[in-house]
Amino acid sequence: MQKQLILALILMVSSVDVAQVLYKYKQKTTHDLIVEHGYPAEHYKIETEDGNMLAAFRIPFSHKLQNQNTKRPIVLLQHGLLSSSDVWVVSGPNDSLAFLLSDAGFDVWIGNNRGNEYSKELKKPSWNFSFHEIGYYDLAALIDFALKTSGQEQKSLHYVGHSQGTTVYFTLMSLRPEYNAKIKTAHMLAPVAIMKNIHNECITCAANLIPVNGWMARYFSHKEFGKIIGSRSFSLCFDKECKNVLEKLSSEHSNKTALIESAKISQTGSWKQIFHFLFNYKSGNFQQFDYDTVRNLEVYKAEKPPKYPIEKITSEVHLWYIDNDELVPVDDVIALADRLPKKVLHHIEHPLWAHSDYYLHNEIRKYLNEPIIKIMRQYELDTK
Ligand SMILES: *[C@@H]1O[C@H](CO)[C@@H](O)[C@H](O)[C@H]1NC(C)=O
Ligand SMILES: *[C@@H]1O[C@H](CO)[C@@H](O)[C@H](O)[C@H]1NC(C)=O
Ligand SMILES: *[C@@H]1O[C@H](CO)[C@@H](O)[C@H](O)[C@H]1NC(C)=O
Repeated sequence: MQKQLILALILMVSSVDVAQVLYKYKQKTTHDLIVEHGYPAEHYKIETEDGNMLAAFRIPFSHKLQNQNTKRPIVLLQHGLLSSSDVWVVSGPNDSLAFLLSDAGFDVWIGNNRGNEYSKELKKPSWNFSFHEIGYYDLAALIDFALKTSGQEQKSLHYVGHSQGTTVYFTLMSLRPEYNAKIKTAHMLAPVAIMKNIHNECITCAANLIPVNGWMARYFSHKEFGKIIGSRSFSLCFDKECKNVLEKLSSEHSNKTALIESAKISQTGSWKQIFHFLFNYKSGNFQQFDYDTVRNLEVYKAEKPPKYPIEKITSEVHLWYIDNDELVPVDDVIALADRLPKKVLHHIEHPLWAHSDYYLHNEIRKYLNEPIIKIMRQYELDTK
């Protein structure tokens, strides 16, 4: 109990808007990183059905190919938790997926979810959201907007998500299955849905400290999670366990220049996102947010939150995973795959590859990005 009180105090301090201050020191935006390499860049504001604003970037064509007047299949890229559109461009044109896709002839859209720095600039959200709202509303809005705005009369697109960018896909496609028809191929990098077997000490420790249904979750669920103080509060609390948590998310093969570039943005999000993941880890289920019995009855008309109906995801889902991702254990990926109707498993054959290496690894091009592009191209050839 005493530990919980200390945690609560630190969480209160974390709600201070540090992120906003730090944002001013970030030098380059996704737009800058695209333009810097000679590619054309566009910046959009997108409104969601529930009144939030999202920022999206686009590389409409490749300046190398000069293919602005030919048909370019649309692809949408979506970042992970406490992250941003930067991740798809930080390793530069020889490695980062956005550039490689552009040079392969695709119309590349890069999303941001509500509340991250790019979207927050447009409109500060109520912090009462988790990956559920990001999937249900934000991802739907991004897909519809990209299809409508590309002006190429395409009815469907390719999708790539990293980490929470996969969770939001599973959320949208299971709860609004009509969206599956808008997907050509979907690539889940480090798929996060079932989280039963995580062995990252920081997560297991935090999950043990924060009770499901507790007053802490109720109080903090409507607050912002600031990056620096937020993660520091975790490390203050769980010093021993969490010291290396960030280091463990990258590996000795991570591109350090890109790592620094991607860390410059002061990532932010909501505490509810963090709690939702922790609760799902504790329950072992991929399910909606667990309030308390009374609130659950009001919101869901049931004492327990409903599980996401993964079985309704009929789109072609490619699951990309590794052996030693602390946040995405192989057993959980297999359990998820067992329930997906149409899936292809891709085990990345590299011994040293960590959670953030899906955009930072110095061999992402060979192990990940070229194989993904090959699958998308094959799809385009087969459906011509
Ligand atoms: C670009 O990537 C390829 C494949 O990973 C590599 O062989 C080549 O050396 C890289 N070129 C530069 C300029 O970094
Ligand atoms: C938070 O969102 C949930 C789900 O949309 C809603 O039921 C609840 O009333 C909201 N809580 C507050 C305090 O706005
Ligand atoms: C590392 O990232 C930088 C940009 O941040 C890029 O210029 C460089 O080519 C990348 N190197 C490798 C080996 O991926």
